[in-house]
Amino acid sequence: MKYRKAEHLNNAKYEIRGKVADKAAQLKLRGINILELNIGNPGIFGFQVPDTMNMAIIRNLDKAAAYSDSKGIFAAREAIVIETQNIGIKGVDIDHVFLGNGVSELIMMSMEALLNPEEEVLIPSPDYPLWTAAVNIANGKAVHYNCDSENDWQPDLEHMEAQISARTRALVVINPNNPTGAVYSKETLEEITAIARRHRLIIFSDEIYSKILYDDIEHVPMAILSDDVLVVTFNGLSKSYRACGFRAGWLYLSGPVQQAEDYIDGLTQLLSMRLCSNVPAQWAIQTALGGNQSIYQLTADGGRLKRQRDLTIKRLRAIEGISCVNPQSALYAFPEIDLSLFDFDDDEDFIIKLLEEEHVLLVQGSGFNYDRSYAFRVVFLPHEETLNKAFDRLENFLSIHRKA
Ligand SMILES: Cc1ncc(COP(=O)(O)O)c(C=O)c1O
Repeated sequence: MKYRKAEHLNNAKYEIRGKVADKAAQLKLRGINILELNIGNPGIFGFQVPDTMNMAIIRNLDKAAAYSDSKGIFAAREAIVIETQNIGIKGVDIDHVFLGNGVSELIMMSMEALLNPEEEVLIPSPDYPLWTAAVNIANGKAVHYNCDSENDWQPDLEHMEAQISARTRALVVINPNNPTGAVYSKETLEEITAIARRHRLIIFSDEIYSKILYDDIEHVPMAILSDDVLVVTFNGLSKSYRACGFRAGWLYLSGPVQQAEDYIDGLTQLLSMRLCSNVPAQWAIQTALGGNQSIYQLTADGGRLKRQRDLTIKRLRAIEGISCVNPQSALYAFPEIDLSLFDFDDDEDFIIKLLEEEHVLLVQGSGFNYDRSYAFRVVFLPHEETLNKAFDRLENFLSIHRKA
């Protein structure tokens, strides 16, 4: 007798915490120190949550033991509405702001509430793989549109539109992007809006890195661009406020919400059944959004994140066989590697051998539903000293595996 998992999980990959990470965990149990450049979790690299956010939680703990409203507490949702007004989004109603246990839970629920079997959602390739997994777990079908490194990882809009079928319900935009660090221009976003309008699709816009920006690049929120296309925007405390463990994220709907009553009803149903999200962390949201945005000190010239990003690009580009587009946002570089120069079978073989031989942990490009060239993701959260050590090892490793 075998107790089997549900078949839809066979189409749900999450390699960031998958097979290679399991191998790393086994090595750690044998006492080996691993240089972990695989997860975008600022708290483990010495980045701190603003003290005011911790204080907001502590001072409200006596109110946080009970379940809250399923959508979340009023103060947090009101602060999110004010933030939408400050960034130029019109008409977001507090009733259309929902808090979740991180953006992750809301991604799952937003797909579960939307999809009937075989209905399709367009997702970027490469992607943040939870999006593809969430569609497949909801028994829908993830269909990928290309983002191209030759074009700074911008979406290929012709390919995007060509991927639309009669069964397509929605398109997902991850902007700023994980894993590529790309930020999309207003013109590109307007064209995506036009595609959604032509085909009556909902846009799901994951903007969790909207405040982690380098080189004066501007982030344009998808929801400011139209009032006739339904946009569901996601954001949260995990990255810009370095509070991954709080599990606090939100989504809001904008545009023709009156046409989305049934969908909102479905979402509300799912939110109600899970009662509410983590209440103590909900109390940090108003303080986070209203306070000093300390992330900007980290991303400005001389700031820790900016220095680490610059070092990462410099070190990667110095290796023959590796090319790397400049990430303009987020915590990642997504370099490509010309595997014909080396003796690896594929990107996973490369990443596993790097782990086994040099104890450096990265994630292979195929873990982000990307297979048009070989790539890998580097998290540049560790201090410069650790990054330098990891790149020294990578360089050494590739010199050993270079074909004669
Ligand atoms: C693009 C993107 N969306 C969503 C998430 C999930 O974030 P949360 O911690 O809010 O669940 C991540 C986490 O890395 C991410 O990179």
